[in-house]
Amino acid sequence: MSAPAVDPALLDPALLDPALLDPALLDDVRVRLATGRTGADAAVRDAVRDSGRVLGSDALRDLERAARAALTGAGPLQALLDTPEVTDVLVNGPREVWIDRGTGLERTRVDLGTAAEARTLAVRLAALGGQRLDDACPTVDARLPDGTRLHAILEPLAEAGAVISLRVLRTRAFTVEELVASGALPRQWAGLLRALVLRRANVLVSGGTGTGKTTLLATLLSLVPDDERVVTVEEARELRPAHPHVVHLAARRANVEGVGAVDLADLVRNALRMRPDRIVLGECRGAEVREVLMAMNTGHDGGFATLHANAVAVVPARLEALAGLAGMTREAVAAQAAGALDVVLHLRRSHGARYLAEIGLVGRTPGGELGVRTAARWSGSGGCEIEPDAWGELVGRYGPW
Ligand SMILES: Nc1ncnc2c1ncn2[C@@H]1O[C@H](COP(=O)(O)OP(=O)(O)O)[C@@H](O)[C@H]1O
Ligand SMILES: [Mg+2]
Repeated sequence: MSAPAVDPALLDPALLDPALLDPALLDDVRVRLATGRTGADAAVRDAVRDSGRVLGSDALRDLERAARAALTGAGPLQALLDTPEVTDVLVNGPREVWIDRGTGLERTRVDLGTAAEARTLAVRLAALGGQRLDDACPTVDARLPDGTRLHAILEPLAEAGAVISLRVLRTRAFTVEELVASGALPRQWAGLLRALVLRRANVLVSGGTGTGKTTLLATLLSLVPDDERVVTVEEARELRPAHPHVVHLAARRANVEGVGAVDLADLVRNALRMRPDRIVLGECRGAEVREVLMAMNTGHDGGFATLHANAVAVVPARLEALAGLAGMTREAVAAQAAGALDVVLHLRRSHGARYLAEIGLVGRTPGGELGVRTAARWSGSGGCEIEPDAWGELVGRYGPW
């Protein structure tokens, strides 16, 4: 298969070609770092200077960056991760590196060398994230110091040394106005979102992978009044709302002896004892959905959670499946969820655009099952489509805005 065209800026050869890095130079930098008191930047600069190489200032700068990346960062992948629009970097094999910068997957010409070198890179990234990755423990799910999420799986479970998936954390929270300006939200809905937060609706943000659930959640949390205390529970810290009073709790995996795990359900129970004004579950992934529904049903209103669901219609089934992991029956889930959740905000991604596609009201169907009624829809451009009954109910509960 031929690689699709890629922006040459992403393929700066000085930055991306590991062959340009002189191994002796890297060794020298390592020694300086291990023995000296200099930081990485100074060590690289001194080593380059002392190597006696005569380089133009551009080449010198590129070499410094490449050396630093090879020693402390994601190596040849660092430049991709540092590119502002890039959200995902995916390594399927040493010569098969893909990126997503908002317009779908693109294949790059980055070359990681041999399969063994791809594996070495995966192992080093895992170590940067404080996790081990080797034959005895061949998969890893970790967070790098800068917040980037790492997943890696080694040969022979995966092909060609290692398969590495990196998701970049973009730290800045979008304001509602910025979401409107970027086409993620129709202007008419901005006031509704503010009203949902201020009138303390319990909101479930749903959507497929990478549709912007966490991003929208951070935006909503930024709307929470400054004098309220927000406690967030996440698998790994991702949410960075613009809010002065947020306590972040993140789950912990068991150590190599298999002890010490603290799961999301534990954290939700803890969060309830921390005098929260708002409980936030970053992503419902399993049995902790029971704890969240219970919290929302027992006086903790104004809470938020996100849920992976490809369409609004499958939200009830997803909740039932997850709560089933906690031993809840369908009837129990319907009763709990209909009482706990108020509004679903469903996100969609198509042709590279991420947008709020649907607003739904959570309740019971005439048959007594859990259901979500669509109040309004948007196709990502143009006007919105309103379902008068459900929309009227939404306005009655949270309006005017
Ligand atoms: N409205 C938006 N405009 C631009 N980038 C966005 C928008 N929403 C999300 N993103 C970016 O898309 C990526 C995935 O978003 P995220 O919120 O993590 O998705 P999810 O939680 O659904 O997996 C992030 O890098 C984020 O910065
Ligand atoms: Mg997310």
